[in-house]
Amino acid sequence: MSDLQAIVDSASAAFSACTTPADLENAKAQYLGKTGRITELMKGMAALSIEEKKQLGAQINVTKQAVEAALNQRRDALADATMNAQLATEALDVSLPGRARAGGGLHPVMLTQERIEGIFGSMGFDVADGPEIENDWFNFTALNTPEDHPARSMHDTFYVDPLDGKPTDTPPLLRTHTSPMQIRHATAHVKAWKANVDKVSQPMPEIRVIAPGRTYRVDSDATHSPMFHQCEGLWIGENVSFKDLKVVFTDFCKTFFESDDLVLRFRPSFFPFTEPSAEIDIQFATGPLAGRWLEVAGSGQVHPNVVRNMGLDPERYIGFAFGMGMDRLTMLRYGVNDLRLFFDGDLRFLSQFQ
Ligand code: PHE
Repeated sequence: MSDLQAIVDSASAAFSACTTPADLENAKAQYLGKTGRITELMKGMAALSIEEKKQLGAQINVTKQAVEAALNQRRDALADATMNAQLATEALDVSLPGRARAGGGLHPVMLTQERIEGIFGSMGFDVADGPEIENDWFNFTALNTPEDHPARSMHDTFYVDPLDGKPTDTPPLLRTHTSPMQIRHATAHVKAWKANVDKVSQPMPEIRVIAPGRTYRVDSDATHSPMFHQCEGLWIGENVSFKDLKVVFTDFCKTFFESDDLVLRFRPSFFPFTEPSAEIDIQFATGPLAGRWLEVAGSGQVHPNVVRNMGLDPERYIGFAFGMGMDRLTMLRYGVNDLRLFFDGDLRFLSQFQ
């Protein structure tokens, strides 16, 4: 009897030690296989009397059932373990919150640009854009800027190595303002008009355009960034005056800032490409900046030499131009006091504009 119990114990221990189904099949053969211990016991009964056979047979059967039960238990346990391992690796926790895709948005300066385009668009202005790597002609010479003008100096302007590597007196540069677009757009406009020979005796359709974009200067502090944004404006026709500049720009500012409570000041200034020239300052009547004059643009009546470089007769065509700082306008509109915040790429700052 105790021999039989020992067999059950040793079978249970052997089965428990198995960690794979294959191990378990091997262990099973040692007890229940053709030469297994239980099978051997049964073979040994042949020599016994009928009475003994009955008695021992019943005991061996009980033993066999106990061994089979231990085997099945281990089989189930191994199958459960395999299943659990699979579930763990392929786990899908449906109670986890989903990974939301962050909504993108426009940069605050781009929001300003879109706003400017919308407002000037409603006043009949086209929108043009052009290269950020400019040449000396469009950035300076065509704009009546003399050789010795400080803006041309190495420490004010980023010059670029010429593509062919050959030294030159007039290397390419990162445009220092959007004003080269005055020449680029006007010459293209004039060329298209003149190509229509029949109509040259007719007055030229007016040039009315804004040109927003990136500009570059060697400058960096809380209110200056080496890369910044400007928007140029140009209106040329037979009868466009400084008065039109005042009306257009005042209208623009009131619409842009959604306020009738602001005044503009045209402060005499100098630009080589305009004569007369004026800085445009604005002042809010209410709000945190109330009472302060804030400079937002340079402007003036386009200089006759520049009109000539556009391919037009300055005796006949006249107009105004302005260049405004889009970063500045964005700072004023949203009350941002450090320009560098716009270019640090900090989402905590940028997401506030969405
Ligand atoms: N280009 C000038 C600047 O960057 C601004 C300006 C544009 C002034 C057009 C007059 C006319 O300061």
